[in-house]
Amino acid sequence: MTATTITVSLPAVPPAAYGIRIGAGLLEQLGALVRAVAPAPTCGIVSDTNVAPLYLAIATQALEAAGYRVIQHIVPAGEKFKNLQTVSAVLDTFLSARIERATPMIALGGGVVGDLAGFVAATAVRGIPFIQVPTTLLSAVDASVGGKVGADHAAGKNLIGAFHQPRLVLADIATFGTLPAREIRCGLAECIKHAVIRDASLLDFIADNVPAILACQPETMTSLVARNVAIKAAIVAEDPFERAVRALLNFGHTFGHAIENVLEYSGLQHGEAVALGMIAAGRLALALKRWNDKDLERMIELIAAVGLPTAMPQLDVDKTFAAMFTDKKVRGGKLRFVLPTRIGNAEIVENVPDPAVREALATLTRA
Ligand SMILES: NC(=O)c1ccc[n+]([C@@H]2O[C@H](COP(=O)([O-])OP(=O)(O)OC[C@H]3O[C@@H](n4cnc5c(N)ncnc54)[C@H](O)[C@@H]3O)[C@@H](O)[C@H]2O)c1
Ligand SMILES: [Zn+2]
Repeated sequence: MTATTITVSLPAVPPAAYGIRIGAGLLEQLGALVRAVAPAPTCGIVSDTNVAPLYLAIATQALEAAGYRVIQHIVPAGEKFKNLQTVSAVLDTFLSARIERATPMIALGGGVVGDLAGFVAATAVRGIPFIQVPTTLLSAVDASVGGKVGADHAAGKNLIGAFHQPRLVLADIATFGTLPAREIRCGLAECIKHAVIRDASLLDFIADNVPAILACQPETMTSLVARNVAIKAAIVAEDPFERAVRALLNFGHTFGHAIENVLEYSGLQHGEAVALGMIAAGRLALALKRWNDKDLERMIELIAAVGLPTAMPQLDVDKTFAAMFTDKKVRGGKLRFVLPTRIGNAEIVENVPDPAVREALATLTRA
């Protein structure tokens, strides 16, 4: 079995360092691995209605074999349940079971379950140990790394939350085998993002391995996840509270969030909107003479090769442009863009003229 471990060090933030283990079949070792970082008589596990029937029994058996009494809570699957009502229901289950400060809370699922269970772990009895078991490519390479946890509010996505770092992340890539292909593609959008902002060789790796990745071939998937986790972990270690360099992870997201917002979060998945957003940002960088057309074409070709969208003829450019100003990351009404300078490097750019931004969006309706 190919498995690998990446350590995230956060000298200024508890728990100071934690391991991210990646490989096929790790779920069976969950109990022993949790016990090593969070020994206690009881543990909590949260999953959703899609993931629980597939993996909750294996996870629970592994935890019980390691001596835990396991308290389960299954949330309804889907972003629309990532809200305070669900948080409250999860809290009810665990608080009435009398969890204590040492009780570990395990998230078994995609980014929705991770964000929700992490928020419960951050707040229940003022904070309990948190373990992430991401079961989507997106949550393995993105959501489970970095300690951001939370829920959505009627006023907007991810408006409620905290920073609560996990004690351990365990990505069993065998679980990706049951993911719809569309979910793998969405995870790949974030991988392409990492490659463009930080690692040109990762872009080559993805380009060279598209069929193996889409087929979840274990060795290829393990390396893909490990390489992406290493990038996100390094950026998070540099900037755990998103004050500076961590903003680079928003490449494609200023445009992407606006597109999702205008579509009212239906029709396009987040990763698909980010793919379009990266193309718009790339074209903006080119128009501002910050990037070159050869690199931009390579990125677009790869986005197309993995099966993500590269154009959206029906996009309402004016509405989307207006929506960009409502993003929670806008400061003082000013847009900030992450623009590549070459594949493997990007910069944060302010004071971009509005017509250039609009034109970058408009290109998405033509291609
Ligand atoms: N905290 C962060 O830093 C961060 C970063 C990126 C994204 N996010 C959040 O993550 C969420 C998106 O994550 P996601 O894409 O994993 O969404 P998700 O959790 O909704 O999972 C996608 C779908 O796949 C199903 N699923 C999960 N694992 C499965 C498996 N192994 N087999 C079959 N089906 C499975 C889920 O039930 C769901 O229907 C968003 O809420 C986003 O805000 C958080
Ligand atoms: Zn994203």
